[in-house]
Amino acid sequence: MTAPSTTAPAGTTALKYQLKSFEKIPIKMWDNPDDGAIHIARYIALCIRQKQQENDHLVLGLATGSSPIKVYNELVRMHREEGLSFQNVVTFNLDEYYPMKPDANQSYVRFMHEYLFSHIDIPQSNIHIPNGDIPMEYVDHYCQEYEKKIESLGGIDIQILGIGRTGHIGFNEPGSWLSSRTRLVKLDHMTRMDAVKEFGKEENVPYRAITMGISTILKAKQIFIMAWGSHKAEIVAQAIEGDVTEMIPATFLQNHTNVKFYLDDAASVELTKIKTPWLAGICQWDDKLVAKAVIWLSLKLQKPLLKLTDEDYINHGLSELIAEYNSAYTLNIEIFNKLQHTITGWPGGKPNADDKHRPERANPAKKRVIIFSPHPDDDVISMGGTFLRLVEQGHEVHVAYQVSGNIAVHDTDAWRYAEFMADYARAMGVDHPELLKLVNKVTRFIERKEQGETDLKELRVLKGIIRREEARSGALYCGLPEKNIHFLNMPFYETGGVRKNKLSEIDFQIIIDLLNDVKPHQVYAAGDLADPHGTGEHGMNGRLMKLRWLFRLVLTN
Ligand code: F6R
Repeated sequence: MTAPSTTAPAGTTALKYQLKSFEKIPIKMWDNPDDGAIHIARYIALCIRQKQQENDHLVLGLATGSSPIKVYNELVRMHREEGLSFQNVVTFNLDEYYPMKPDANQSYVRFMHEYLFSHIDIPQSNIHIPNGDIPMEYVDHYCQEYEKKIESLGGIDIQILGIGRTGHIGFNEPGSWLSSRTRLVKLDHMTRMDAVKEFGKEENVPYRAITMGISTILKAKQIFIMAWGSHKAEIVAQAIEGDVTEMIPATFLQNHTNVKFYLDDAASVELTKIKTPWLAGICQWDDKLVAKAVIWLSLKLQKPLLKLTDEDYINHGLSELIAEYNSAYTLNIEIFNKLQHTITGWPGGKPNADDKHRPERANPAKKRVIIFSPHPDDDVISMGGTFLRLVEQGHEVHVAYQVSGNIAVHDTDAWRYAEFMADYARAMGVDHPELLKLVNKVTRFIERKEQGETDLKELRVLKGIIRREEARSGALYCGLPEKNIHFLNMPFYETGGVRKNKLSEIDFQIIIDLLNDVKPHQVYAAGDLADPHGTGEHGMNGRLMKLRWLFRLVLTN
């Protein structure tokens, strides 16, 4: 049986097929976050130029975090390559941690200069970022002045926002009220946890922040809010489709008349029209969607798939499937079999077996396989069982650790290994002054290291070796020969911080060379796509897409 046609079956009312929108904030979806960000940046540029012609200024409300980075990159590019001037632009940032010294590594002042202000011609006096360094007793007054300043310049013309997993906009955490203005707030636990990647340790993350209020934000004439990546999907759906509630402050945007939510595919998966398009009446049925609908119904009703009845389908907006398949029984069996055929104990294919209904072909019986592991541990963490099976079943398995992973090693571990080297040298009576000097340098650095300070190169190398050896033991334990363990050390990662460089041609070439060397029949991309780490999907959709494209290119040549 094939998937039902996309047109309404004869006899059904047109009404049933009308689109039903669940979205209370207009959305714009993008295959690739870069395209969405570029679109916003170009719109801002247009407005800046328009105001220049009118001899007027444009007031921008700006956000930090990963979401707007690509917008800033594009604005900088337009400044450099297209002569876009920011002389008539005034900016107000949404927020800043408190307390926070403006020159600290994690300050939003530093962030904004790093990504935007240092690369454009905006007058310093036009830049406003809440000051996280003022004494507590002046904060209230300071916040009032911040509001007044915005008003005195005619209010914010365009406000850029990201959304936190708590549903915050700015740092307006759950519980923020509609009329709130710029003020000192307490950060939600989840927000603090999300910030650990910037601050190194939980205890380093400030408990408070100064933020524009909900009413400050809603007064902006136009608002663009962005969410990229699957880790945002759930809160995005609640913000866009849920009831307005102060427990999800982003829902207040539903009352703004000129707001648009920019989303990529991953961030939109929980929206009704994507997750359950049959409820929105816009189904383009194909085999995959039929399977998705049946599994959804089974999960929703907490009923085994084979026990779903005609009535279950009809009562949950899926009567057209019953019309097409004649009965729940036929449909259930078809999907059940399909699911069965995706499960195998032979990930590399079962030799000499009829593979018509198996997820992998039987031949060649012995396959060459590459497991790409972004960090040195994603292989065993995310697909350890499959890894072992592939080796046991005699395939030629290669594992490629893409980056060194050095920033994830604790200083105390590095310190211990450094001391170990020195102790060993001493115990063996090897007097190696250079080695002892190096150990001394590393341990002294760790002892006096400031919060968030980038590691010395020598320390990064040591940390990289620690991870490398852990990964090597894991792979050897899985039965891999030494020659099949590849440490790619992709250079984009080696910044010493959480923020990575852009992928360069060198990074891509490393992958291409390995694919050309091994010529794999199977490629696995290990890891969790929702991994909020800079090396994972977050902010890397484009990179992953490019990798997929590379795989296709190399494998078909
Ligand atoms: C940042 C800000 C926050 C972020 C939000 C999303 O100035 O006000 O509301 O926009 O936490 O952060 P990212 O973009 O890093 O996911």
